[in-house]
Amino acid sequence: MESIGKLVGNVAIVTAAGQGLGESIAKTFAREGALVILVDINQQEILRVKEDIIEEGGRADLMVADLTKSDQVNDLVNAVVKDYKTIDILINGAGGFQKFSPINEITDSDWNDVIALNLNSAFYCSRAVSSIMIENKKGRIISLSSGAGIAPNPYAPSYIPYGAAKAGLIGMTKLMARDIGQYGITVNVIAPGTALTPRVKRIRDQESLDNIASMNPMRNLIEPKDCAEAALFLASDEARYITGITLMVNAGNLIL
Ligand SMILES: NC(=O)c1ccc[n+]([C@@H]2O[C@H](COP(=O)([O-])OP(=O)(O)OC[C@H]3O[C@@H](n4cnc5c(N)ncnc54)[C@H](O)[C@@H]3O)[C@@H](O)[C@H]2O)c1
Repeated sequence: MESIGKLVGNVAIVTAAGQGLGESIAKTFAREGALVILVDINQQEILRVKEDIIEEGGRADLMVADLTKSDQVNDLVNAVVKDYKTIDILINGAGGFQKFSPINEITDSDWNDVIALNLNSAFYCSRAVSSIMIENKKGRIISLSSGAGIAPNPYAPSYIPYGAAKAGLIGMTKLMARDIGQYGITVNVIAPGTALTPRVKRIRDQESLDNIASMNPMRNLIEPKDCAEAALFLASDEARYITGITLMVNAGNLIL
């Protein structure tokens, strides 16, 4: 029997799709039949991801936006609705930070930049897609938080603004899930452990990565595809009544 993709007929916006976890989620969703709108600040990288998807027989479009700017987010969501008439799935993938520093060295702009990228971006995108999802009485909003939003990493340094933003994302998700569940919209968070993405390779040295891998119960780092399959499940029909949860994908790095 020919297999049918789990997301056929869905239009999915994937933010931060230019590399790392976002790229992996975008390609997985395209494999499952979604039309994927790739959003990133880096045009060159989403162009590459789009070409990869099309080469594999999938469907994708791209939009460049700085997700920390609400006017750019509103414009991109309006453009998607105009072109494709619907938005069924939103992946809030934008996030990260550039350096570790102790609290007494964190400047106002360090703090504001990390909150803007990890928390404001997800709020702007969720708010912007909510109108069409409410109108359609259907939608999935899935955000990438982090183990750092639940507890400090037991085996490696953590960064306070990042943990604060990622915890905010978990709180915001629970409230949104309650607020818009009545319209058939689910809202969930994935909390990944450390995955070897380009950004993580830049900010963590090999010793820190070896530590994280060797100390977790499964003795390994997760890969981007592990988060992508978790996102696929939350976006699929099978998860229609799962909402407000934080799904940890972390090889047991943090067990509550
Ligand atoms: N990789 C991990 O180990 C890990 C662990 C826990 C949580 N996360 C979270 O998962 C998400 C993805 O992480 P990653 O490591 O794949 O990230 P990454 O840094 O590898 O990729 C992030 C992408 O976001 C884009 N981007 C950056 N600023 C932007 C902006 N203002 N507007 C639009 N796009 C922008 C970048 O161009 C890049 O393509 C982040 O939210 C991160 O916090 C990652």
